[in-house]
This record gives sequence, C-alpha cells and structure tokens, in this order.
Amino acid sequence: MRTRVAIIGAGPAGLMLAHLLHLAGIDSVVLEDRSREYIERRVRAGVLEHPTVELLRECGVADRLDREGMVHHGVVLRFDGADHRVGLTDLTGRSITVYGQQEVVKDLVAARLATGRPILFEVADVALHDLETDAPSVTFRHADGSPGRIDCDFVAGCDGYHGVSRPSVPEGVLRVYEHTYPYAWLGVLARAAPSHPELIYSAHERGFALHSMRSPEVTRLYLQVAPDEPLADWPERRIWDELGRRLAVDGFTLNEGPLIETSVAAMRSFVVEPMRHGRLFLAGDAAHIVPATGAKGMNLAIADVRRLAAAIAAYAADGRTDLLDGYSDACLRRVWRAQHFSWWMTSMVHLPPDADPFSERLRRAQLHYVAASPAAARSLAENYVGLPFEGADEQGWYEGR
Ligand code: FAD
Ligand code: PHB
Repeated sequence: MRTRVAIIGAGPAGLMLAHLLHLAGIDSVVLEDRSREYIERRVRAGVLEHPTVELLRECGVADRLDREGMVHHGVVLRFDGADHRVGLTDLTGRSITVYGQQEVVKDLVAARLATGRPILFEVADVALHDLETDAPSVTFRHADGSPGRIDCDFVAGCDGYHGVSRPSVPEGVLRVYEHTYPYAWLGVLARAAPSHPELIYSAHERGFALHSMRSPEVTRLYLQVAPDEPLADWPERRIWDELGRRLAVDGFTLNEGPLIETSVAAMRSFVVEPMRHGRLFLAGDAAHIVPATGAKGMNLAIADVRRLAAAIAAYAADGRTDLLDGYSDACLRRVWRAQHFSWWMTSMVHLPPDADPFSERLRRAQLHYVAASPAAARSLAENYVGLPFEGADEQGWYEGR
C-alpha cells in the first residue's frame, strides 16, 4: 500500500490529523491496534478548550458537539467550606465545552469512514522503518493475521504514551523531561445527575476532589489517592463517602448513583524534545503527558496535529519544508505553557502526602489570591479556556475579544 502519511493510532491526535489531511486533499492510512468498539468506549478527558471547539467546527465535525456538548462559563474553586467561582467568560470572553473524549473519537471515526479513506483497526506488530530516509515505511499485521506494509512520505506517531513510535527513535536522539507527582486520581463515572451546574475543584484537607460531568444524567468525579493505590481498596460505598467529605459545603448535596466505570490514573508530566526524527513526527501523548488537573491533554493533541497537517499540506502543495522544520519548536512552546499551567493547578489544589507547614501556607496563599484577585483569576481563566493557536491572530485575544 502506498500513501502520503501513515498515521499510527486512532486517538484524538491520529483521527483529527487524518481528517485535516483529508480536507487538504492528502491521503493517509490510519493504523489502530484496538477495536473500534474499544476506542469509542474508552473513558478519558472531558474538557474541550475554546480553540479546540472552534477547530472541530471549522472542520465540520461539531454537529453533535454543538447539540450535546455542555458549554460552561465558569468553574468553582472550593476550599475552607466555601465556593469561589472563576468566571471564565466574564474574564476572557470565552468558554469551555464539556464533551467526553470518546464522543470526539466517535465523531471523528464516523467522519473518517464517511470519506472512504482507510482506517484499519486491530492491527498488530506495527514497526516503523527507514525514518531517516525520504522513503519511510510501516509494517504490521492485519486483524486476520496477514502481513501489511505501507510506503509513505511521512509517519505520524499519534499512538499515545505506550505506543511504538517514540521508542522507534534511536537511543540518545530525544531528550526526556519528566516529573512525577506523589498522587494519582481515582476516577469514576456515575449514573447520577450532576450535583452542581459547573465543575468543582475542591482543595480539601483530606485531599483533592473534582466534580465534573458528561451529560445531564452522568457525573464524572475524581479523588486524589496515592500513586500506587489499589482499586480493590475502594468499594463503591467508600468512594461515595470520601467524595461526600471532600466536596462538602453548606447547601451542597452530592447526587449518588450506580458507578459505570472506575479507574486510577497517575499524575505525570513528560515531554520529549524534539517532537520529530527524520520523517517521523510525534503528536499528542506520544510526545508529552500533562497531569489531568489542567484538562489539557486532549487539547494539546489537537493543537499538535493542526500544525502538523498545515506543515504537510504546505509541503504537498509546493515543496515547502519550513513548517515541517518548525513543527517541533512551535508545538513545544504551547506544550510547555500547558505543562506549567497543569503543574501550577495541580500544586495548588492537591494535598502533598509529605506537606511541610511552610509549603502548605504558600499553597493556601495561592488559593486565596486566585479567589480574591480578578488578575490572578484571569490568568487561570485564560489558560483554562485555551490560549490562541500559534500563528493565529492574537489581536484582542488577551482582552477577550
Ligand atoms: P491516545 O488517546 O492515547 O491515542 C493513541 C491511540 O494509539 C490509541 O487509540 C491506542 O490504542 C493506539 N495505539 C497505541 N499503540 C499502538 C500501536 N502500537 N499501533 C497502533 N495503534 C496504537 N486528559 C484530560 O485532559 N483530562 C482527563 O481527565 C484525562 N484523563 C485521562 C485518563 C487516562 C486513563 C488517560 C490514559 C489519559 C487521560 N487524559 C486526560 C489525557 C488525554 O486523554 C490524552 O491526552 C489524549 O488521549 C491524547 O490523545 P492522543 O491521540 O495523543 O493519544
Ligand atoms: C473530566 O471531566 O474528565 C475532567 C475535567 C477537568 C479536569 C480533568 C478531567 O481538569
């Protein structure tokens, strides 16, 4: 099989890249090692930044998002038994949309299938070859076990943190930056109406808790736990009791319901530089991970491939290589901003297991400052709703126009 771009992974990064390339008239093949059912059910992120929503609209894949997505104009910081609302729209003129990652994936898979261009599920043994030449290739096994091979101009490594793309880069080429946090999130999806119209980030003395949602009938909730926390230690009753304690304020009632899904995710920061090796371009979680507190992971993946698609389109149209050459640096500027924001939010709302009294006072001072100062709240808000895409018109962006 010959194509312009071999895309490894059908997560938000790979699927969005495939769609953007299609709109530019560029052919690609998407290889995914899981089944369609699996990737459409996998529960992950839920917050779409304003620029992400705009891009999905521009690409014609936002019909259901516009119908079912929940537009939020603020988020709540809860601490010391009181709520402090950060008015996202008042402070920035922009909003966020709560819409599950698996819904974005479903919409993008449907868009891909509608184009008739190839997307192969349940492939195995994906291997990348000759990345340092201008004729790279990818070998794999089809779902029925038969061998497959793609010859291409570019390989897009969109296969997440555990994929094969990043490890295909020779030892010593990539510089790795890593930070681990001394906690993880126990996440649950509950068949229960949200208990509040907005997201609640609760910095409680027993540890952090987050109230989010997926629909008027489904609540998404998280609890700060130890990084090695066994899920088996958290029967349903214990989860609800702990959420109830950490989210308690006067006048608030936590709606309970059957748990649909439960998982534990580590909090980690990870970046590799550069995000390119020869004809391999890394995008999304394959190149960087942020702790979930800032809700940036999926949004960064989308921002990466927006840039990659534009760079490949410029090359395909008239052989320009400057955008391909600038891809990694341009992405990394956004990645590091998101990395800082996510670290800052994470540090502000979590209780470190080894908290010393001095650091705890600093943390509380920061919470009070964001709650009291419109300038501090606005800094949180403009990062949270999403900064402008690189190269986008920034005129008026920071004034909320
Ligand atoms: P992925 O979504 O990981 O997609 C990669 C795809 O590649 C997958 O479909 C995978 O099956 C496929 N693949 C892997 N290896 C191969 C291979 N060898 N061959 C072919 N295909 C392969 N972010 C938030 O903002 N908020 C959250 O609450 C949040 N929760 C998360 C919970 C979990 C458990 C995880 C893992 C991540 C979470 N994230 C969250 C992060 C967010 O979901 C990711 O940033 C986002 O999925 C990145 O998209 P991606 O397309 O780069 O990678
Ligand atoms: C979610 O709804 O899954 C969610 C919301 C906000 C976050 C992280 C995850 O910061």
